[in-house]
Amino acid sequence: MFAVYAARQSTDDPLSALELGERPEPEVPEGWARVRLRAASLNHHDVWSLRGVGLPADRLPMILGCDGAGVDDEGNEVVIHAVVSSPGWSGDETEDPRRSLLSEVYQGTFADEVVVPRRNLVPKPASLSFEEAACLPTAWLTAYRMLFTKSGAQPGSTVLVQGAGGGVATALIALGSAAGYRVWATSRDVDKRARALDLGAEQVFEPGERLPERVDAVMETVGKATWAHSLRALRPGGTLVVSGATSGADPSADLNRVFFLQLSVVGSTMGTRDELERLVRFCESTGVRPLIDATMPLEQARDGFARMVSGDLFGKVVFTRP
Ligand SMILES: NC(=O)c1ccc[n+]([C@@H]2O[C@H](COP(=O)([O-])OP(=O)(O)OC[C@H]3O[C@@H](n4cnc5c(N)ncnc54)[C@H](OP(=O)(O)O)[C@@H]3O)[C@@H](O)[C@H]2O)c1
Repeated sequence: MFAVYAARQSTDDPLSALELGERPEPEVPEGWARVRLRAASLNHHDVWSLRGVGLPADRLPMILGCDGAGVDDEGNEVVIHAVVSSPGWSGDETEDPRRSLLSEVYQGTFADEVVVPRRNLVPKPASLSFEEAACLPTAWLTAYRMLFTKSGAQPGSTVLVQGAGGGVATALIALGSAAGYRVWATSRDVDKRARALDLGAEQVFEPGERLPERVDAVMETVGKATWAHSLRALRPGGTLVVSGATSGADPSADLNRVFFLQLSVVGSTMGTRDELERLVRFCESTGVRPLIDATMPLEQARDGFARMVSGDLFGKVVFTRP
């Protein structure tokens, strides 16, 4: 079958590690299901895999892609939960120390077909297109858990989103504003700041800019480049939720500020199957839909990866299959 995969790894030139071509069709273990993919979306995770972060070289070649939506072997339209728990695990899948994400241990979604544990299938409502549904399992689910499970924010709270253009960041703005949060956002780019306002942000700022007042919670996926500003932005007792570090993971912790202001720094990763079901329902009931930067056939995946590596996107890149 046709697939997009990591054939090798390169820290500095991730696109050179990307291959498009034939890979073997997957076997279907007992209790797993085969899904014929109709759409899959790109995450920064796929770029990290090409750079050799989080994917040991002895697992190559590895089909990339955490996110997908398609039709299972019984003809049901499904969204795929990307977190694969270890056998016998029950409870919050994100707390299973032996969990993996699709494309880390098991082959990913940038292909004609993927096999996943049957319990990872979530029904796709007809009101969501395959392209929209394929954006939900990683970036949007991560944003959902950051905002609604981890931040402690309530409707009316002020929440700062760093790096407005990213897949997670656009989800944070759209979901947060739909839930009644007052969402503020930063971006390096003037056009992206304008688009963040269209998406529901109440105010936008340049990175590091002084805010009109301190916020209740900050949503961090940028890391080193924005961390100090995130800590400065919080009101005493506020919460910083961090799920990524695109610009680097070794910021100065500014511990004096953390303890004097009694800040909470909370890690967040992906989300549970239950949270994915609730996210799907949230999209259905509010009419909120993932913001898609570009849609292209899977054969043009290299262009999508290039957009992400350059940082030149606003929202999600989606790959389609006929
Ligand atoms: N823990 C988890 O489960 C989980 C899940 C999803 C994602 N993540 C992580 O979260 C991060 C974002 O993921 P994503 O898929 O949303 O990525 P993405 O779409 O590539 O988003 C990256 C965004 O970061 C912003 N940014 C600000 N300053 C930056 C800088 N100095 N260098 C690079 N980017 C900068 C940019 O926004 P502006 O151009 O608007 O400034 C850019 O659009 C990644 O590191 C990813 O691995 C973690």
